[in-house]
Amino acid sequence: MKHFALFSSLVLSPSWIAYGFANPLACSGACNNAHDPSLIQRDSDGTYFRFSTGGKVAIHTAPSAQGPWTYQGAAIPACSSIQLAGNCDLWAPDVQKVGDTYYLYYSVSSFGVQNSAIGVATSTTLNSGSWTDLGSTGIQSDSGSNYNAIDGNLIAVGEKYYLSFGSFWADLFQVEMANPPKKMASGATRTPLAFNGTGTHAVEGAYVFQQGGYYYLFFSSGQCCGFDASKPAAGEEYKIMVCRSENATGGFVDNNGRPCTENGGTLVLGSHGWVYGPGGQGVYDDAELGPILYYHYVDTRVGYADGQKQFGINKIDFSSGWPVV
Ligand SMILES: *[C@@H]1O[C@H](CO)[C@@H](O)[C@H](O)[C@H]1NC(C)=O
Ligand SMILES: *[C@@H]1O[C@H](CO)[C@@H](O)[C@H](O)[C@H]1NC(C)=O
Repeated sequence: MKHFALFSSLVLSPSWIAYGFANPLACSGACNNAHDPSLIQRDSDGTYFRFSTGGKVAIHTAPSAQGPWTYQGAAIPACSSIQLAGNCDLWAPDVQKVGDTYYLYYSVSSFGVQNSAIGVATSTTLNSGSWTDLGSTGIQSDSGSNYNAIDGNLIAVGEKYYLSFGSFWADLFQVEMANPPKKMASGATRTPLAFNGTGTHAVEGAYVFQQGGYYYLFFSSGQCCGFDASKPAAGEEYKIMVCRSENATGGFVDNNGRPCTENGGTLVLGSHGWVYGPGGQGVYDDAELGPILYYHYVDTRVGYADGQKQFGINKIDFSSGWPVV
């Protein structure tokens, strides 16, 4: 069966031969306005919700992960109560369900500075207008920090909750959260997850996903934005990397056994064909499609501006023990 599957994918998808990556699955409706997406399905009626950077956390809904997507409004229309610059321009949402409540983690920051905080809001319906902003989780950074408190992602491990976060400086960290996960646990310390000491330390957007016997740490590496103004050298644009561990809380290595804290990382999805700079990813175990990687990317046939970025989805094949799209 395995050989047959490989054979048919070679025959049916020329892009596999040319680039090693499948094209994104078709998306319909509002597939732009998709920067740093977070995807979740509402349990009560199966509606898909997509949250994204900008527009005070824009909300789109659809009957399937592939659309058709419709804009619904802002999650936090009155701005965050966190008193930092950027509290009306919220970044990188991550939405997870804990018990009967949906938790939305968001970042308050300004481009290139470390005066940042990860905030949280809660809702029981996911709808626009239903979110209660609880302000800061206590995960904050300033110019004296070796990290940037942005790009939060929550994972539950038994009775415990952990928030992975970070961007640039010493890159990715994780802290234990209280239960329920509205604040960091008192006295929690930061554990390093990933660090790329070469180049500009452009590692961000952690997403930890459990599959089989492993936890997979997905992250984005390289220049994220502003491709319409300037593009980096080929290969230095955003791309999606992964490390894995038996533990959700550390010990992540790439497929050569190199620790993620020592420049490690295995490429999951990079630029190919008309797809450029994919990143800001998450992983969702979809009822119909199975595990999917979702992300934003530049469709070079549409345009390179941040506002033109498209919502991409690929099925993930974990059968080798590593995610392949
Ligand atoms: C996972 O955690 C356990 C318990 O802390 C530890 O013994 C083990 O070495 C860890 N495994 C990895 C791959 O880090
Ligand atoms: C680390 O940074 C270098 C230089 O920017 C880049 O080429 C490489 O892909 C990065 N690796 C990871 C795992 O992020």
